[in-house]
This record gives sequence, structure tokens and C-alpha cells, in this order.
Amino acid sequence: MVATVRRQRPRRLACWALMTVLLADLLALSDTLAVMSVDLGSESMKVAIVKPGVPMEIVLNKESRRKTPVTVTLKENERFFGDSAASMAIKNPKATLRYFQHLLGKQENNPHVALYKARFPEHELGFDPQRQTVYFQISPQLQFSPEEVLSMLLNYSRSLAEDFAEQPIKDAVITVPAFFNQAERRAVLQAARMAGLKVLQLINDNTATALSYGVFRRKDINSTAQNIMFYDMGSGSTVCTIVTYQTVKTKDAGMQPQLQIRGVGFDRTLGGLEMELRLREHLAGLFNEQRRGQRAKDVRENPRAMAKLLREANRLKTVLSANADHVAQIEGLMDDVDFKAKVTRAEFEELCADLFERVPGPVQQALQSAEMKLDEIEQVILVGGATRVPKVQEVLLKAVGKEELGKNINADEAAAMGAVYQAAALSKAFKVKPFVVRDAVIYPILVEFTREVEEETGVRSLKHNKRVLFSRMGPYPQRKVITFNRYSHDFNFHINYGDLGFLGPEDLRVFGSQNLTTVKLKGVGESFKKYPDYESKGIKAHFNLDESGVLSLDRVESVFETLVEDSPEEESTLTKLGNTISSLFGGGSTPDTKENGTDTVQEEEEGPAEGSKDEPGEQAELKEEAEAPAEDTASPPPPEAKGAAAPEGEKATEKDGGDKPEAQKPSEKGEAGSEGAPPAPEEEKKQKPARKQRMVEEIGVELVILDLPDLPEDQLARSAQKLQDLTLRDLQKQEREKAANSLEAFIFETQDKLYQPEYQEVSTEEQREDISGKLSTASTWLEDEGFGATTAMLKEKLAELRKLCHGLFFRVEERKKWPERLSALDNLLNHSSMFLKGARLIPEMDQIFTEVEMTTLEKIINETWAWKNTTVAEQAKLPATEKPVLLSKDIEAKMAALDREVQYLLNKAKFAKPRPRPRDKNGTRAEAPLNASASDQSEKVIPPPGQTEDTKPIPEPEEAAAGSEAADSEPLELGGPAAESEQKEHAEQPTGQKRTLKNDEL
Ligand SMILES: Nc1ncnc2c1ncn2[C@@H]1O[C@H](COP(=O)(O)OP(=O)(O)OP(=O)(O)O)[C@@H](O)[C@H]1O
Ligand SMILES: [Mg+2]
Repeated sequence: MVATVRRQRPRRLACWALMTVLLADLLALSDTLAVMSVDLGSESMKVAIVKPGVPMEIVLNKESRRKTPVTVTLKENERFFGDSAASMAIKNPKATLRYFQHLLGKQENNPHVALYKARFPEHELGFDPQRQTVYFQISPQLQFSPEEVLSMLLNYSRSLAEDFAEQPIKDAVITVPAFFNQAERRAVLQAARMAGLKVLQLINDNTATALSYGVFRRKDINSTAQNIMFYDMGSGSTVCTIVTYQTVKTKDAGMQPQLQIRGVGFDRTLGGLEMELRLREHLAGLFNEQRRGQRAKDVRENPRAMAKLLREANRLKTVLSANADHVAQIEGLMDDVDFKAKVTRAEFEELCADLFERVPGPVQQALQSAEMKLDEIEQVILVGGATRVPKVQEVLLKAVGKEELGKNINADEAAAMGAVYQAAALSKAFKVKPFVVRDAVIYPILVEFTREVEEETGVRSLKHNKRVLFSRMGPYPQRKVITFNRYSHDFNFHINYGDLGFLGPEDLRVFGSQNLTTVKLKGVGESFKKYPDYESKGIKAHFNLDESGVLSLDRVESVFETLVEDSPEEESTLTKLGNTISSLFGGGSTPDTKENGTDTVQEEEEGPAEGSKDEPGEQAELKEEAEAPAEDTASPPPPEAKGAAAPEGEKATEKDGGDKPEAQKPSEKGEAGSEGAPPAPEEEKKQKPARKQRMVEEIGVELVILDLPDLPEDQLARSAQKLQDLTLRDLQKQEREKAANSLEAFIFETQDKLYQPEYQEVSTEEQREDISGKLSTASTWLEDEGFGATTAMLKEKLAELRKLCHGLFFRVEERKKWPERLSALDNLLNHSSMFLKGARLIPEMDQIFTEVEMTTLEKIINETWAWKNTTVAEQAKLPATEKPVLLSKDIEAKMAALDREVQYLLNKAKFAKPRPRPRDKNGTRAEAPLNASASDQSEKVIPPPGQTEDTKPIPEPEEAAAGSEAADSEPLELGGPAAESEQKEHAEQPTGQKRTLKNDEL
């Protein structure tokens, strides 16, 4: 057994206040990264993301599918994932790994390992003597642990999510089956660590489904409890869950909806895969039968043929859900022999008869664990792909005695969606509304310890004690403290699973070790020596069952108290600190002070069996550190705990007896104090003759992991590096392939272009021959030497060819752009001229533009016309095979300059303040004289095109006004500050006179 000395990092209470993500809120926090969820099914994974500004979405994979096979093909020099890997299963069955999650957290002697070998004999499983686990031996050089394979898949899921979100993603919520035990959960966390993913939480897939259901029916949840049963039959397993929905009062957010997991039942091997395997076996038998007498080999010995049969069995099974019969057919199944056989649904049901009998099992188990009866369940809802099998529904319907089964959630995607809500809530990036989730412990956890007692004088005997730390169906996340009251020297205690009697004998074997950890304490005796005058308040072990359902021992402390003279004026700093610590930890003297401000949930006397209360003696006291919200007065955990989970599996630093100087303690305890009640300053101020001072000494712990040792840190780092190298290699390979493809495509496309008229028009025959010759040479090089060429060589070759063709391509491109660009330029010139004409028509008293401004515009219009006419004429004289002088970029620059000028004036008009108008005797306004100033300037302006290319004066104002469509439109009131008047040197402040302009004036 490997002994590791470590101390778990204290963790804050997780926030289970889940939220409906509001789009507006997402936008408000838009500088943060996207988060993802992965529903890690046995057969396929469903990935979802939420990113700022975008609501939760299922990620489409490269094939635009919403489900991605959990399949990896691992070859010497390449890897394939998802759908590409699934298609490799037939060509390369040995290297194509599926259903490998079934091996996670299991030792070699686990019946599931044997089952995996029997189901997939094509895989060679090696044995790791250190951890007693198995790994995939793909080839003599290639071997991967199940954690490594899962890590690759998680990394792939992230790349899919990143491609979809178009931004990097690091934070994820990953689903696990509710029945995963500690070792299995830790294995997933280790895989995620290798992939560099930050796991915000491992969420049970049934809980995620229930959350998704609740979030979308928020309005239907009220103070009356509703019990809903979810029946999830996936590919690998079946889980039945009873959930109670109800609104509860929360501390910070008032009444909020809550879901509480009340009961869970499961069957670890009942699912679509087993049905498929039965069908495959049947098909294999039929094929052998067809070839009987031909001395043919058993098809079962041919892995490729078996892979083909499995794929066909999967298809057949799905078709039989909708049809009474179907013909299975595979071309060239083995030895080029085709296979064809009709299978009826009745036959399929016969083959799986024993599986269908197991359908009610999880329902019964769930009811038992919830201590509920079927009539308390309002609705039974189907989840998971395999519930589409009609027989499953038929048997289930009978078992639950309802009129119908609920099909009102997306059976495939609900878990991924629920998990991504959770991710959004935990990531801090999104504002969300509370949805309280109380998950439940499936496997109870105990603390056991043995102590020598003296029952009669001189007669000493060993006494074994058990204390329930986390009870079955108790809520989590949760912290608990257990106090050992009668130890004054180092001792050991054991953390084990509690009564697992609800598991059958076979499930118990699959479960693995029922012993979790032996905790060896170091420094208890020294702590007593250090405080000889103090009274011991026991050794307190602080446990945390975190939001991922993973147990950790946060710390162990030896606590002492003594009575001190209380003289406030002379109170020493040390005493003050001691008192603070005392109150933080609920110093025992004050009757109303409770440890960490929470209730004692269990206080047991030491006894031989759990719950025994009849023997006096040593006490092991259990306290909940952070209570989950109660049904009626529930308060959600503090929001700051969101996403507080440290990456799992992180080992804490080694402790050497916990003999710390006292000066360090206040800060240390300050941190711990955040878990509980703050000090009560009022009480400290009260003058008392004497009061209790509490001292806390941290005790060193050595943890001996008994279920499945985690991967040692160095091995984990090696694995992470190994996987990173593979990812890098894949990326380099992809890059090289892309470079080769680009080169090939360029050669091919350019050769084709050389025959197109638009390219021929701008090139000489000689030029085309030169290009064509070089393209052919490059093509030959690619064919002959391309395989050995590096990415850099391929890119270089492409760059050379691009350079060679640049002039030709440029000429073609420019010609394509001319008509559109020239027409846009003409339009702009036209409008600018009209504008200028209108500006000049403004009566002097109302004029908002200065003469300088109008002359500047006029000048630029004239210059632009002149440039255009000259350049077009020059270009017309130039041979098409030469570099053009009329360049689209120059046209754009000219347009931008002219547009800028016009925009400036328009803006000025927009913000011009109307001038006060002198009133005549009758109180009516004086009419502004028409054509007050512009006419003499207008000859200098080049006329708009469309009439003639030659220079022409701007048309007469009357003409312009008559020709304008907008002449009759409503008056446009102008006003407001001349906001931009200072932006230009030649701008003058327009006078503040009020005026109206017709639309056509601008
Ligand atoms: N129409 C159908 N008829 C029968 N079986 C189906 C149908 N559609 C899907 N399935 C089966 O459902 C299973 C996949 O379901 P799902 O995606 O819920 O499983 P999973 O999440 O990958 O596995 P698990 O939850 O057990 O780990 C497969 O066995 C698939 O063949
Ligand atoms: Mg599933």
C-alpha cells in the first residue's frame, strides 16, 4: 500500500445556487471567457457552451452533429477522435478505443475489467502493478491508461467547444454517472487535470438533467413539493432518480426554486450497449450458420468482422425501435462474403428478455432510498437514448403504474444543458438567478477508530467505534467535523464506506474497496505537551464532501481551552488573538456559541456499532460545518463559493506534526473562520472575571489511500506532457497537410485560370507559358518529393508561385473592381456637387457654411474630377498586359477624402444653431432671399457625370431644385450646438439664427 503524506487544501463551501442565465446579464459581463459542459456518456458525449452574449447552446462537432462518439483511434503517428475515430473502428479495431470509462477507478481484479475484456477482446490490457490497474497496450511502444485516454477525449471536447465558441475555453463542468464512487470521480478529475481543464464541478448526470428540467419550468415550481422521477437508460448504464421540486426561502434571494435529489437507483450494466452486444452475438451466429460446412473460421475470431457486426447491430437495434422487423446486411463481412439476415423485433426482445426484466430494478431502488411510494411520484420522465426501445418503455410503464411516461425533455441533451447552466453559475462570468440544488450522497461514509479502554480496573480491551460522517441520501456538498475526545497521543482512524447493503453481491465486487483511507495522526502527543495547563477539547478532524462529491480531509486540529483572568485594559495581544480564535471556533464556555455557528447534527457516544448510544465514555462528536439549506428556511450557500473548487487531486503540502508558532495562528484561523460564524465582539467586550481562551494546534496527517491510489504527481505530469506532445504532433501534422493541400489547390486552380478569357486578356502568351511551365514543375515536385517535404518547404513553394502569378492576378482583380469603383466615385462626385450647389443657395442671413468651407469643397470636387478623367484616359492608352495606372485603392482614397469633406459640412449643418430671425411689423418672419450668393461660384465646379465625361458647370440652381425628388418633402428642423465646429481650422461658428432647410438643400 502506498503511503502518502499530504494535507488537503481547505476548500470553500461550493455554491449550489444555480441560475437561469439571462442574456442581458451575459452581455453585461462580456469581457469574460466562455465556459463549457461535457456530458460524458459511455457511447457519446454531448458538449454545450455558454459565452458572453450568447445563451447556452449544444456544440456542433466537425460533422455538424450534436453528439460525438466517445471514441479514440491511437496509432503510432496519428490520432483520430469522434466520428473519424468511429469510422476507423472497422479498419483498425485494436487501436480504436470505446467505452473505456468503464475501466476508470477500477483495479485489475474488478469484474468490470473482466467484462471489458470479454466484450472487447481485440484490446490488449496491460497491468500496472503499482496501482493494480490496467492500461491499453496498443502496440509495443504505445500504451495509455484509461485516464490518459479520457484526458485526450476531454481535450478534444474542449477543442470542439472552442471552435464553436470561437474563443479559448478552460473552465468546464463534467457529468459523471451518479453511481461513480470516490475512486471513479477522482479518476475523471485526474484526466481533466492532464488535459489542463479546470473542472468547476463534476455534476451527476441525473442531477444535471433534473436541473435542466427545473430551470425551464421555473414558473411551475411553487411551495408544494412535486416529486418527479427521471429514468435514464443510456448506452452503458441505467439510473433512476427521484427529485423533489419546491420553492424554498433562501437567505439572500428570498423564495427560490430548489431541486432535491431524494432517491437514486441504478444498474451499472443495463443499457443500449448490452442490447447491441446481444444482437451482435445473434448476427454472428447467423453468419456462421450461413457458412456452415464451408470450413470457414468463426466470425467471432475476426475483430474487423466483429466491429462491422457491432455497427450493424447498433443500426438494427435503432431501426427495430420503429419497425417490426429489418434486414441486417453487410457487404464483404468476412472473406469477401456478404451477410444478410432478417431480424424481427420479437427476436430482439427475446434476445434481451433478461435485460428487460432488469428495467424495474433501479425504480425500486430509487423508491427505497427515497423512502417513498410510487403514488407519491407525479411523473416519470424518460431520459437517455436507450429508453427509445419500445420494450423498455412497456416494462417501465408497467413497473411505475402510470398512465404514460413523460417525454417532455430532450432525452439526449438535457444533462449537457443542465451542466452548462451550472457552469455559467459557477464561472462568475455570468449573472444568474438562484436555483438551489441539493444533491444526495449515495454511498454513506463512516469514520472508524479503535481505542484501548479499561472497563474494569486492570482489564483493558480494544473497542471499535463507527461514526457516520455522511449518511446515505444526506445532502452534499457538506463539511463535517468529528471530534475525538479521549486521545492524548498519536492515533489512527479510518474512513470507510458505510452500509452498502443496497448493492447486490456482484455490484459490491464492482464497487471495489470499501475502505477509503487510513488517517495517521502525528503530533497529538506534542500538542498536549505544549499546553500542559490547558484542558483538551479534543482532536477535531474537518471533512469536506465537495460539490463534485469528492471527499477530502481539510485539516485535523488539537483544541485546548483554559480560563484566563479577564482584564480588558491589560489584555495582551496574544490573549486577544486567543479569544478571537476561541470565538471563531465556538469556544466552549458560552452556552449559545456553537461550533462554526452551525448546529450539531449528531452527537454520539462511543459504542461498538454505529448509532449506539447506551455506553458512556469517550465521545466522538460530529458537526456539520456548513449546513445545506433546510426545506423551509433554506439559505443557499454563499455566492462567493462559486467555482471555488480547487483542482481535484491536488495534494496538499506535507505536514510535520503541525507544531506551528502561535503567532501564525490568527491568520490561519481567520481563513477557517470564513466557514462559520464571525466572532461576537459584543461578548468580548463584556467584563467577566474569567473566560475561556482557546488554542488550536494543527496536527500532521498521513493519508494511506486504500481504494485506488491516485496517479502520483510525477506520473501525472509525465502523462500531461505526453498528451501535450501528441496534441502538438497532431497540430503539426494538420498544418503540414493544410500546406500541401493549399499548394496542390493553387497549382490546379492557376493552371485552370490560364485558359480563362479574363486572364488571357491581361497576359501575353509568353507570360502564360512561363507561369504554366513553373506550375508543372511544382506539381511534379509535389508528387515526387512532396511526401518528404516539411511544412516550411511546402509553404515556401507556394509563396514562390504566388509571387510569380501576382502581377497577372492583380491585373485581373483590378479590372474586376473598376466598374463598381468608378461608378461609386461618379455618384459621390455627383452628390457632392449637388450638395455644394444647395449650400450656395442658402440665403446669406441663414448661411451656416463659410466661404472658405465651400471653396475647399469645390476645389476637392474639381481636383477629383480632374484626377479621374486623366487617370482613366491614361489607363485607356496602356496595354492590358501591363501594370495598370488606374488603381482601385487610389479610387477609394479619393472617395474617402471627398466624403470626409462633405461629411464635415453635413455635420456642421446638423448641429448649427438657428439664428434669431428679425420680425417685421406684422409679426411674420422676413423671407430669406433666394439665390442670394451661389451663382457666381458655380462655374468653377465640374458637373456631375452621367451627362458627359467632359467638364461641365454645375447646373443652374433652379434646375437642381426642380430635379430633386426631395423638393416637396417635409421641412427638417435643424438645431443644436455646432459640435464639430472646432474640429477644422477653417470652420467658423455659424450664427445662432433659427432657420429651416428643405431636405433637398442638404
Ligand atoms: N431509437 C433508438 N432505439 C434504440 N436505441 C437507441 C435509439 N436511439 C439511441 N439509442 C441507444 O441509446 C444509447 C445512447 O444513449 P445515450 O446517448 O443516452 O447514452 P450515453 O449517455 O452515451 O451512455 P450512458 O449515459 O449510459 O453513459 C445507445 O446505445 C444507442 O444505440
Ligand atoms: Mg448518458
